[in-house]
Amino acid sequence: MFRGRLLVVVATYVALAAAVEIPQDAIIKDLIDNFESRYSDNVIEDANLNAPELIAKYRYPVEVHTVTTEDGYILEMHRIPYGRDANNVPNRKKPVVFLMHGLLMSSADFIIMGPSSALAYILAEEGFDIWMGNARGNTYSRKHVRLNPDALLNTDFWKFSWDEIGNIDLPTMIDYALNVSGHERLHYVGHSQGTTSFFVMTSLRPEYNSKIISMHALAPVAYMAHNTSPLLNFLAPHANSIESISALMGIGEFLPSSAILTIAGEALCRDDVVFQPICSNILFLIGGWNEEEHNATMMPAVFGHTPAGSSVRQLAHYGQGIAGKEFRRYDQGSSLSNYRVYGSFKPPRYDLSKITTPVFLHYSDSDPLAHVEDVNRLFSELGRPIGKFRVPMASFSHLDYTYGIHAKALVYDRVINLIRAMDANTFNEMDNN
Ligand SMILES: *[C@@H]1O[C@H](CO)[C@@H](O)[C@H](O)[C@H]1NC(C)=O
Ligand SMILES: *[C@@H]1O[C@H](CO)[C@@H](O)[C@H](O)[C@H]1NC(C)=O
Repeated sequence: MFRGRLLVVVATYVALAAAVEIPQDAIIKDLIDNFESRYSDNVIEDANLNAPELIAKYRYPVEVHTVTTEDGYILEMHRIPYGRDANNVPNRKKPVVFLMHGLLMSSADFIIMGPSSALAYILAEEGFDIWMGNARGNTYSRKHVRLNPDALLNTDFWKFSWDEIGNIDLPTMIDYALNVSGHERLHYVGHSQGTTSFFVMTSLRPEYNSKIISMHALAPVAYMAHNTSPLLNFLAPHANSIESISALMGIGEFLPSSAILTIAGEALCRDDVVFQPICSNILFLIGGWNEEEHNATMMPAVFGHTPAGSSVRQLAHYGQGIAGKEFRRYDQGSSLSNYRVYGSFKPPRYDLSKITTPVFLHYSDSDPLAHVEDVNRLFSELGRPIGKFRVPMASFSHLDYTYGIHAKALVYDRVINLIRAMDANTFNEMDNN
């Protein structure tokens, strides 16, 4: 079967450094015995509804909450407080799971694949109170008390990277979710940039570690020295100039231009097997593509929600990480500007040892953005790394964590087991050694 040629990463065998291993045979058996998918009853309709409407369409309870950050961004959160078929008694206190999306993505990515396939629904049925964040600048959080995202020649709204998303947005949304749900601590599941921003939050504001019972990183992105994403590698050497040139031209929002798509698309789409919509979607050009886990029927629904918007600076910040091979704060472009912002000529490194939240990493062999070697380095530098799980499918890729046909059996079921164990405090770290 075809696999995106660019995505085939050296399949280094990695010894698992983790406990509560579910034997691979059991996973495969579960795939065969219990696989049923309900997905969508109408993909075009699903493409045109927004996230809360989509949740309501499938008869799940949904709440929309907005919070304003200290620097004026108005963020929208989506909550599924209880299940539809199970654990469906309202007002019963349930453990909170906070879900945070990736680059160019939104809360919608945790529900698009539909009941019994998408993570948010599965967790709600399992008895959790689900809160989904939306980072500044995406479809649901493109608002500010003063700044206009569409202002001509003024890019002030867009002067942020995932540093601000982690340092400001996440703490604001997490405090709000805890307040409303009446909890002191919650579980966190992040995908891609949703993991990056978590590492930013808990290293820059270590007091937030005590608010997180456990963190589950799907496709963890911190170090990117071994990144194989064609588009990001293409952008990396120009990371700083792209940002400053865009700013000069009055562009702060990352609007995938046809020029970028042509360059990256040529690399990915020379093979006829890849069908056209994939080649014209920026998300797949960054995250890669895996035929084995790909449900083509669902793509119109995915494309109706994603890409969901981001700043040029978010891309540029990742580009800096690829070029510099370190996990650092945003490089302001000159020693003097860095000195003004950080008090040092080089942007400081995020101190991963300050992250004392119990962290579980879920990664795979063919992920262009979370390469095995980068994941290993991250794991070894975290303050309290607990488990590292390689997805038992060699071709599993970056976007399969949200859209993959077998994401539940390959990833979510394990995450749920880990959350349960951490919640009940029955997870035994001694098993881990
Ligand atoms: C793909 O999605 C369609 C539409 O929602 C669904 O009917 C089908 O079962 C899915 N295919 C697989 C292989 O999961
Ligand atoms: C928590 O909720 C109360 C009442 O709903 C509100 O007055 C307070 O400002 C909230 N605190 C935070 C940190 O959101």
